[in-house]
Amino acid sequence: MVDVKSVCFIAVGIVLVYISILEAKEPVRKPPHVVFILADDYGWNDVGYHGSEIRTPNIDKLSSQGVRLENYYVQPLCTPSRNQLMTGRYQIHTGMQHQIIWPCQPYCVPLQEKLLPQLMREAGYATHMVGKWHLGMYKKDCLPTRRGFDSYFGYLTGSEDYFSHIRCCLVPPANQTRCALDLRDGEEVATGFHGQYSTHLFTERATGIIAKHNPQKPLFLYVALQAVHAPLEVPQRYVEPYGFIRDPRRRQYAGMVSAMDEAVGNITRTLQDSGMWGNTVLVFSTDNGGQTLTGGNNWPLRGRKWSLWEGGVRGVGFVASPLLALPGTVNRELIHISDWLPTLVGLAGGVINGTQPLDGFDVWKTISKGTASPRVELLHNIDPLYIDIAPCPGSDSRLTLAPTPGPGPWSNSGFNVSVHAAIRYKSWKLLTGYPGCDHWFPPPPLSNTSDTSRPAPPLKSVMLFNVESDPEERHEVSEKHLEVVSFLLTRLEHYQKTSKPVVFPDDDPRCDPGPTGAWGPWE
Ligand SMILES: *[C@@H]1O[C@H](CO)[C@@H](O)[C@H](O)[C@H]1NC(C)=O
Ligand SMILES: *[C@@H]1O[C@H](CO)[C@@H](O)[C@H](O)[C@H]1NC(C)=O
Ligand SMILES: *[C@@H]1O[C@H](CO)[C@@H](O)[C@H](O)[C@H]1NC(C)=O
Repeated sequence: MVDVKSVCFIAVGIVLVYISILEAKEPVRKPPHVVFILADDYGWNDVGYHGSEIRTPNIDKLSSQGVRLENYYVQPLCTPSRNQLMTGRYQIHTGMQHQIIWPCQPYCVPLQEKLLPQLMREAGYATHMVGKWHLGMYKKDCLPTRRGFDSYFGYLTGSEDYFSHIRCCLVPPANQTRCALDLRDGEEVATGFHGQYSTHLFTERATGIIAKHNPQKPLFLYVALQAVHAPLEVPQRYVEPYGFIRDPRRRQYAGMVSAMDEAVGNITRTLQDSGMWGNTVLVFSTDNGGQTLTGGNNWPLRGRKWSLWEGGVRGVGFVASPLLALPGTVNRELIHISDWLPTLVGLAGGVINGTQPLDGFDVWKTISKGTASPRVELLHNIDPLYIDIAPCPGSDSRLTLAPTPGPGPWSNSGFNVSVHAAIRYKSWKLLTGYPGCDHWFPPPPLSNTSDTSRPAPPLKSVMLFNVESDPEERHEVSEKHLEVVSFLLTRLEHYQKTSKPVVFPDDDPRCDPGPTGAWGPWE
């Protein structure tokens, strides 16, 4: 007689054997090294593989053997993109939906947010960061070394000089210009690097970290390059090949891109030389669209940095890795910068533990195998305080308030359509309020200056585009698809209800580093 107990026992045994066979099929993989290179203000039309006149041989080759992300989105500005990369959450959910953190503002990414490097560290990774932080530094608890990075070498604000690493900024209460160093090694001010071009300096630090790394321990290296943000500075040798570019800003910018391309080449080669490449995932991404005022270009996309047009938010990005199932492919699935946190933590074999609710999705299968993206919707932003700080050509004042589009058929909607906002759902993109500079900027060599642009049709307070078929946003179709507009306004209304109040404090006079100090924590 076989009793019930032993039947159960045998059944459990069979199941266990079966599970172990299943598991054996999937070989135990060591967590990959993850190297994330973030470029600054790098435009859609500034990479060789998009047909740019700027030469990027290393990026072209590396991405041709990887997966190019062609439906990939970032935020329109530096701080917001970095914020979403580090938190996996939309700007509206951290109270940081407005602009960037200016050097004297006393705030940072909220300390209750758990950041990507903290999760990577919990998954057993060594975590290092080189380059631009720009996520707040008014007190020490905000610094990268207190937010998950074992080591940090870089600068905390933005826009400083590439050679002297000095940042000039108006300081309250008298609004005098203060120029001070912004470079740190860990939490200490890093002096002694005057004259070293930051693309070289940061690359050297990054390759040094890789070369010294014990490959048995998984590495997470975040390289946030200063390139290719203004000021337009680069050693002359990088500019020489670009004598054919007439516009001087574009020519200088092209040289900066070449130096950055060399940096990507050097970092990749160091990973190969150290024997780590076989188990590395390298991500390259811009932080926002190009700034046409300082040499960048997003042609044929509309708009630029600071705007919610495709030129502001559709980003250059790719993944290179021997671990990709379909290397050498172009990926057109919807992917967003907030997706990296769950994707990379997933690759690391880590757990999403202790974060606030994420807006990002794990898109590794989509990137590696080309499966459909789990993301069908993307909130670009909702910013009730938006102003266009760099107005369109033809506008004379530096700080122009957004023109308020007149009342339209949607003025009774549950979402205030005069507010600067944009949302994507599948192929549809809805924009409300003033989206920012709406011109199309042709690539400078085709014109005498980079400010030449085509006249744009008048704006409306609600605009709808099918960005799959019309990525240039030339055909506004809200009147033809009223039901889509209505649905997307409902979605914006939903997001608006979940958004945190905007945090954008006044400058704090205590920020002043004085005549000999450096920018850094003052509280
Ligand atoms: C400094 O600038 C702020 C903001 O632009 C302005 O409100 C303030 O009046 C200025 N202070 C002085 C002393 O000029
Ligand atoms: C790349 O490495 C070469 C050789 O070491 C060096 O001359 C060059 O300056 C490096 N480039 C960058 C951008 O760091
Ligand atoms: C989960 O997160 C909490 C808070 O960040 C942390 O204290 C804890 O160690 C984490 N658990 C694991 C298993 O990593």
